[in-house]
Amino acid sequence: MKNENRNWMTGLALAVILSAGTVAVAQSGGAGRTDASTALSKPAKPKNDAEAKILAVIDEMTQDRTQRYLSVSPEDGRLFRQLTEAAGAKRVVEVGTSTGYSGLWFALALRSTGGKLVTHELDPGRARIARDHFKKAGVDDLVTVIEGDAHETVKQHKDPIDILFLDADKEGYIDYLQKLLPLVRPGGLILAHNMRSPRPDPRYIEAITTNPDLDTSFVLMEGSGVGLTLKKR
Ligand SMILES: C[S@@+](CC[C@H](N)C(=O)[O-])C[C@H]1O[C@@H](n2cnc3c(N)ncnc32)[C@H](O)[C@@H]1O
Repeated sequence: MKNENRNWMTGLALAVILSAGTVAVAQSGGAGRTDASTALSKPAKPKNDAEAKILAVIDEMTQDRTQRYLSVSPEDGRLFRQLTEAAGAKRVVEVGTSTGYSGLWFALALRSTGGKLVTHELDPGRARIARDHFKKAGVDDLVTVIEGDAHETVKQHKDPIDILFLDADKEGYIDYLQKLLPLVRPGGLILAHNMRSPRPDPRYIEAITTNPDLDTSFVLMEGSGVGLTLKKR
């Protein structure tokens, strides 16, 4: 075979392998979907015993979906931990605890920043399971679960918030933002889950993309999608 033919065939074979890989990656989409960046990641590695204890519960919940209810993905959770720790956050407020999966990712960071998480949940059964998970992970001293309708219970907050995470009723995000944005400190973050799926409330998108005091990016949009909003200094 001539050299130029051999080169062309090699190129074709490479293109077929690459496109097959792309399809395989794309087809693994949906909940827990794997994109190229996720495929490159390795599981989070514990740095010390405290982290190992938290990650063990996270891993157990990741493997056993029955322990979670509409939780964020592991990729979302890792990003929250990274942002929380990088920001040196001391006060995180979460709206929508569920069984505590996202809360555990925040707790991983808060264990080293010396911060606290206050998380709101309407459903008493899920709040109880979340408390059990926080205890098992050894972070019950870092986390306060407030039961009740968060549209009412978030009014209790008076102190500045470093990171606000919205993940409860989707049509409620705009109300939570209006009530809590004044408490988010300048330089603080508002994270919002489900910015792609289920379809986000257009009023919330409008609020975080048109306010000159805020700057918003949308990330991990190959999954459920996360809104990452900076409250400017
Ligand atoms: C998507 S799940 C939260 C998942 C959790 N953040 C995680 O990743 O593990 C939404 C939770 O918000 C709760 N919720 C819905 N409406 C609420 C409200 N008005 N006040 C407080 N919690 C609410 C639901 O009961 C549900 O457990």
